[in-house]
Amino acid sequence: AKAPVTVTLTGAGGQIGYAAMFRIAAGDMLGANQPVRLRLLEIPQGMRGAEGAAMELADCAFPLLAGVDITDDPGAGFEGANIAMLIGSRPRTAGMERGDLLAANGAIFGPQGAAIGAGAADDVRVIVVGNPANTNALIAQQHAPDVPASRFTALTRLDHNRAVGLLAAEAGVAVSEVDGVTIWGNHSATQYPDLSHATVAGRPALDAVDASWARGAYIERVAKRGAEIIEVRGGSSVASAANAAIEHVRDWVLGTGTAADGVPRRTSAAVVSHGEYGVPEGLVSSFPVVSHGGDWEIVEGLSVDVFSRERIGASVAELEAERDAVRELGLI
Ligand code: NAI
Repeated sequence: AKAPVTVTLTGAGGQIGYAAMFRIAAGDMLGANQPVRLRLLEIPQGMRGAEGAAMELADCAFPLLAGVDITDDPGAGFEGANIAMLIGSRPRTAGMERGDLLAANGAIFGPQGAAIGAGAADDVRVIVVGNPANTNALIAQQHAPDVPASRFTALTRLDHNRAVGLLAAEAGVAVSEVDGVTIWGNHSATQYPDLSHATVAGRPALDAVDASWARGAYIERVAKRGAEIIEVRGGSSVASAANAAIEHVRDWVLGTGTAADGVPRRTSAAVVSHGEYGVPEGLVSSFPVVSHGGDWEIVEGLSVDVFSRERIGASVAELEAERDAVRELGLI
C-alpha cells in the first residue's frame, strides 16, 4: 500500500474546511489509491468545530483516511505536511480599513509560512484560499525562504470555473466544450476573466458569443459572482470554493493532462511571477497555467491586445499596492 500523504487544512472548523475534508478523505483530490492523513489546524475558538467534523469523518469510515489530527499549534499542524491548504483567514468585514485587514492576515500568514518553512515536508505544496488570498500567499511565501517560491499558490480556480460555467451557459454548450479561459491578476473585483484565447466547441469564444458581452457584462458577472451567490443563497460560496481548491491541488499533483486532440489542458492559478506578461517578479498573480511533473508552468506566448493589457495592468497594480502596504507594515 502507498504511504499516506499528509494534508493540512487550516480553518478546518469553518465552512469551506467542512465542505473540503470529506471529499479529500474520499479520494477526490489525490486519487482513489492514495491514502491521506488529515491535519486540522484551527484557532482555539474553532477547535470544537474541527473536532465535530473529525467525528463525522470517523463515521464515514473512509478506507483511504489513514488518520486525523486536530491542533491549534501551527508547528504541529504543518509538521511533515505534503499539502497545505490555508483556508482560515481574517476576511474583510464592513468598515474594516485595508491596513487593518492586511495586518490581521499578516499575523496569521507570517507565522504559518514560518511553520511551513520549519517543519513541512520537502515536497510541500501550499494553496491559499483565505482572503485576501494572493497577498496572504505572498506573506506566507516570504516567511519560508528555504521553500521554493513556486510551492506557494493562491486560489483563482473558483473564478476560472465560474468563468467557464457562465461562458458555457451563454453559448448554450456543455462546459466540457469550453477551453482556454484565463483568469488574470488578483482574486478580487479587479480580476480579469479573459476570453481572447478561449474556444467554444472548437471555435473562438469571441465569435460564439457577443464580443461586447464578453468584454463587459461577463467580466463583471464573473468578478461579482460571489456577491450574487450570497444574495440568492443567503450565504457565501462554500461547496464551489472547496471544489475549486480540490481541483487546484489535484491538477497540481496529478497534472492537467491533454484534451482529446492532444492539446495540453489549461487552467488558471495564482502563482509566483518571474516577470511573465509584464507582471512584476515575486507577485502572486493569476495566470494561464498547465501542470505536469508536479509543477505549475505559466503558459507563455499568448497574444495580449490593448484591452487585455489594460485589464491585466489594473489588477496587477492592485496586487502591487497590496504588496507595498504589507511591506510598509513590516509584514514581509
Ligand atoms: P469560515 O468563517 O466558515 O471559516 C474560517 C475558519 O478559519 C474558522 O473556523 C476560523 O476559526 C478559522 N481560522 C481563523 N484564523 C485561523 C488561523 N490563524 N488558523 C487556523 N484557522 C483559522 O469561512 P469560510 O467560508 O470557510 O471561508 C474561509 C476563507 O475563504 C475566507 O477568507 C473567505 O473569504 C475565503 N474564500 C476564498 C475564495 C477564493 O476563491 N479564493 C472563495 C470563497 C471563500
